[in-house]
Amino acid sequence: MGDAYLDKISEFVSHQSRLCFSGHKREILRHRLESRLKKLGLANYAAYWYYLKQTSGEETVLLDCLTTNETFFFRNTDQFSHLRDVIIPDIETLRGQDVVKSWGGNSRVPALSIMKLRVLSAGCSTGEEPYSIAMTILESLRHPKAWDLEIIAGDLSESCLKTATEGYYENEKLKNIPDHYIDKYMRRDADGAVIREEVRNLVSFTHLNLNGLMKGVAFPGAVSFSAPFDIIFCRNVMIYFSSSCQQMLVDMLHRLLVPGGYLFTGDAEPLHLFDHDFETIKGAKCLIYKKTEMTDYA
Ligand SMILES: C[S@@+](CC[C@H](N)C(=O)[O-])C[C@H]1O[C@@H](n2cnc3c(N)ncnc32)[C@H](O)[C@@H]1O
Repeated sequence: MGDAYLDKISEFVSHQSRLCFSGHKREILRHRLESRLKKLGLANYAAYWYYLKQTSGEETVLLDCLTTNETFFFRNTDQFSHLRDVIIPDIETLRGQDVVKSWGGNSRVPALSIMKLRVLSAGCSTGEEPYSIAMTILESLRHPKAWDLEIIAGDLSESCLKTATEGYYENEKLKNIPDHYIDKYMRRDADGAVIREEVRNLVSFTHLNLNGLMKGVAFPGAVSFSAPFDIIFCRNVMIYFSSSCQQMLVDMLHRLLVPGGYLFTGDAEPLHLFDHDFETIKGAKCLIYKKTEMTDYA
């Protein structure tokens, strides 16, 4: 009977978030639930199931304790090097050409002066990923003041988002950040460093359930636009979904990108097992995908 309720909880979690705890991952579910049951003083999974159904806010707590939040600054440095050295300069050149064209065009069309760049960090955990993206883009842009840069960083875990929004990281977490980035983009104290306000202001953290987006729910209200994005980081998230959900996630990320937009996935998340319309970036030392320019939206 205990395991029947464990099944119910597992199905509920999968239905609400796509997190998959079948096969060998079942032990992870069991282990994490045990801690929650202990904290609540509940005797078994059945008792917890009824508690979950009757207690407002428990679903959020449950999903929070079932997510795996491992992350670190500049995870997969080759991806960040390619972003800094190739992708951002390419985008800056192309958008710059559009601006120059707009100056000489039809006078009834207002000339462009500010260029927009929209980035999504989906499954941003405690913020190291979106802040690494922000620092990299700032390092790379030749004319940062000419850009309206917006990085949307979303996660299912409320506790992660709280840490991310605070933007304070202890010394242990700073190991991967080049020293000159820390000096430029963070403020140190004896125990760690906080992200400077000008970098923090580029990143909007929001509660995001990719499951909702896959079902066609609009982007969370805190976000000032709904898509599409020029660049998406969705790394080390899909490995926690079942393979059928992974295909849906790939399709959804494709929809959220502009034609020619870039998708960064995790090291263990190559897309060759899925149907998709992305090209791999040749010459990069890491996996980065590009949405083909000629995408048919019909
Ligand atoms: C292992 S961390 C990866 C963090 C970061 N992207 C990186 O690669 O370092 C996975 C993150 O995905 C989030 N996540 C899992 N399922 C999600 C969902 N359905 N919607 C949004 N975020 C989700 C988790 O809360 C967790 O913070």
